[in-house]
Amino acid sequence: MIERKLNRRLLSAASLVRQGAVFADIGTDHAYLPIFLLDEGRISRAVATDINEGPLASAERNVGDAGYSAAVTFRLTDGAASLAELGITDYAICGMGGELIAEIISHAPHLFDENLRLILQPMTRQAYLRKYLLSHGFDIEREIYTEDGGKYYTCMLVSYSGVRRDISEEEATLGLGSTRHTGDGRVGYLRARLSSLRRAADGKLRGGVAFPSELALISAIERLIPEILENNT
Ligand SMILES: C[S@@+](CC[C@H](N)C(=O)[O-])C[C@H]1O[C@@H](n2cnc3c(N)ncnc32)[C@H](O)[C@@H]1O
Repeated sequence: MIERKLNRRLLSAASLVRQGAVFADIGTDHAYLPIFLLDEGRISRAVATDINEGPLASAERNVGDAGYSAAVTFRLTDGAASLAELGITDYAICGMGGELIAEIISHAPHLFDENLRLILQPMTRQAYLRKYLLSHGFDIEREIYTEDGGKYYTCMLVSYSGVRRDISEEEATLGLGSTRHTGDGRVGYLRARLSSLRRAADGKLRGGVAFPSELALISAIERLIPEILENNT
């Protein structure tokens, strides 16, 4: 077996896939995630999808080179709506914007199922995605924060509970209750949020526009970071 390594962002997603899962990677691109999971013996088959032909062709090539062609089914499709009948248990939707991830979920009603596991790794609009999930009956069981090449990422373990909950802007931006966080990148992730909030506040200040929500979030993050650092020491 050739040793193939995943970057830390995708490793955090891989760590949330259940042993023996029937796995789907939505927007697979290079198919690194299913190949890694097959290498690890975590899964025995996978469905790899993409909306674009180029990425799907590259996924097929990589899977073939890895010797897993018989274990992976490829689908050129938009989102997850067409995958309802395939017996998939764990879905990864990684490396896309939070709004697109929410849209993919909203167009696939079969994902509203307590037995399924969704592994979501939004590159942007994380607060939007948290709000969408909680208000549509999903629970974020855990978030793993990672640092990779100076950038900060979060990966969410999500399942449907049917309990709808509206969360505040603060909760949506900071992530949910501290016991649900793991990984060593949360402070970096929050600092990155802080910088972008400060930039937004500066812009509004220059334009003579009030910015109470940015101010509230900035002070919440400034309170939270020392708490996290203290608990980690
Ligand atoms: C930035 S790549 C991420 C690849 C991989 N999941 C990762 O995290 O490294 C995003 C991929 O999602 C695909 N994509 C975008 N919108 C999609 C949709 N609605 N359904 C399926 N795939 C989509 C793109 O073609 C692209 O290959």
